Amino acid sequence: MRLLSALALLSTASARSIHLPFLQQTPLEPNGFKDACPLAPKVTPPVDGLHSSLKFVEDPSIRAKQAERLSKAVQVPSTSTEAVTDPYDDYFAPFLDLHRVLESLFPLTHAYARVEKVNRLGLIFTLNGTNDAVKPLLLTAHQDVVPIDDPSDWTYPPFSGYFDGQWLWGRGASDCKNALIGLLSAVEDLLQQGWEPTRTVVLAFGFDEESHGWNGAGEIAKVLEKRYGRDSFELLLDEGGMGLQTLGDVVYALPGVGEKGSIDLHLALSIDGGHSSVPPPHTGIGIIAEIIYHLERDDLFVPRLDEKHPARQTLQCQAQHSPDDVEPWLASALESDDYVGLAEALAASRGETVRFTYQTSQAVDLIRGGVKINALPEKINATVNYRVALHERPDDVKARAVKIIQPIVEKYNLSFNAFGSGDSSSSSNHLDLTTPNIPLEPAPISPTDVRKDAVWARFSGVARSVFESVPSLAGKTVVVSGDIMTGNTDTRFYWNLTRNIYRWNPQRAGGSVNIHTVDERVDIDVHLEGIALYYDLIRSFDKWSN
Ligand SMILES: *[C@@H]1O[C@H](CO)[C@@H](O)[C@H](O)[C@H]1NC(C)=O
Ligand SMILES: *[C@@H]1O[C@H](CO)[C@@H](O)[C@H](O)[C@H]1NC(C)=O
Ligand SMILES: *[C@@H]1O[C@H](CO)[C@@H](O)[C@H](O)[C@H]1NC(C)=O
Ligand SMILES: *[C@@H]1O[C@H](CO)[C@@H](O)[C@H](O)[C@H]1NC(C)=O
Ligand SMILES: [Zn+2]
Repeated sequence: MRLLSALALLSTASARSIHLPFLQQTPLEPNGFKDACPLAPKVTPPVDGLHSSLKFVEDPSIRAKQAERLSKAVQVPSTSTEAVTDPYDDYFAPFLDLHRVLESLFPLTHAYARVEKVNRLGLIFTLNGTNDAVKPLLLTAHQDVVPIDDPSDWTYPPFSGYFDGQWLWGRGASDCKNALIGLLSAVEDLLQQGWEPTRTVVLAFGFDEESHGWNGAGEIAKVLEKRYGRDSFELLLDEGGMGLQTLGDVVYALPGVGEKGSIDLHLALSIDGGHSSVPPPHTGIGIIAEIIYHLERDDLFVPRLDEKHPARQTLQCQAQHSPDDVEPWLASALESDDYVGLAEALAASRGETVRFTYQTSQAVDLIRGGVKINALPEKINATVNYRVALHERPDDVKARAVKIIQPIVEKYNLSFNAFGSGDSSSSSNHLDLTTPNIPLEPAPISPTDVRKDAVWARFSGVARSVFESVPSLAGKTVVVSGDIMTGNTDTRFYWNLTRNIYRWNPQRAGGSVNIHTVDERVDIDVHLEGIALYYDLIRSFDKWSN
């Protein structure tokens, strides 16, 4: 996954002192939250003669085997990069090793399933069910990992897959070879017990998620849509989300049910050069700097937490189930229709990372210009990255940029071409504004009303059942609630396949650390709990019909 959503459960005393206009509203009725956070009934696994999912967390031989499986997968340096996109390039050779490792670790799955390679390195495993009338499950992860900066910064070499008895260390241990190995392990275990699927299960593993995903999941999606059609899967479970977070006696399970959109804007300025001893008041670098100055200060993006935002549901649940652990004003703030005020107050209380689940972000990440200290720069460019909040669209970001840049262009008498319209005739004293990548709209929101969506209710019920029974969370109540992600996963290619897209690594907070940085690692017991979830999810959907 490219970015984890923010941890959204902290309460701070400082929240009490911020200005909260909605506090003047009518106070909440007693029981006012009676129906605000209905819990899905627990779904206990069917009587199918298979062993309990608790075996994964209780059997020491499984624990040792999983450490070994995950270690072997981590030892393969299957990195991806934007710089190489041809899957036949030598750069991708480690993926062939990874395929061999998977084949040796999961012989039953390879024998039972139809195994397809898409675009050479993408993997689809199809376990045909006997009942065509029920929609297949789609379970996904990615095979690639982000490259290493400096291996000597690591406590253990990043591709050694070192296991210290608790933590499995290495690049990909938590993003997301744990999901890749976890899904295959659950299926292998089912097959070993003689299970034959009633509902078809499809496992799909892309190979360039960390580099946009076009060649892996992008191609897999086409194969699946052609084969099964639109809206053809019961649900899709991918990596992502905010795991399981404990607040007092309550554990919040937080699958991502939406994703922000994204757009990059590229500014390219061409301007007359000359000797730097006789400069204009503003060089090309000065003009680009002025544009950036205004992009960062004018007409700023506003956070908003309206009725359509899934995080409201999580907050309702917190106000209802954990009133002593959240901001004292939260319950009444949720009664107000001051959506901006609520979002601002939460951002102030819970931090900037939370802000960006409600607000479009803007980051100027690249700038280039100038070749020599005595020559005026002639070609200057900059690229700005935006992650688009649910209440906005990439087109809004484009319109805002044009509005801010237009007066600066006029001030310097530049010709201006914005997104293909305007003046493109002149090659000097010209500003070009373009989108170097195809913009991504915010993802459709998966339905999360347990009273209306039977698939979500069942998924939530399985999650409750598994995590209320694992020893590490004994005695807690599990509340399953959707949230959104600030980054994007491979699911961006799968929107057409199902409305029920859940981005969720089923693991406790703190059990999977340092994603994308040094000393990435996963707690093996957290990994085992995740397998228990995958296992019971497949069983619980196997014979069920919606
Ligand atoms: C799975 O089922 C489909 C259609 O029912 C069929 O086309 C396909 O060949 C089957 N695959 C396997 C491996 O049995
Ligand atoms: C950006 O500017 C640099 C330096 O002038 C130039 O080499 C590069 O090609 C430009 N890149 C783009 C994408 O415009
Ligand atoms: C602005 O640029 C145009 C075309 O490059 C030129 O004809 C015009 O004289 C310029 N105007 C000013 C005020 O510099
Ligand atoms: C979904 O289907 C539409 C219409 O057929 C198509 O244009 C679009 O590319 C598909 N989306 C994805 C992410 O594949
Ligand atoms: Zn990932």
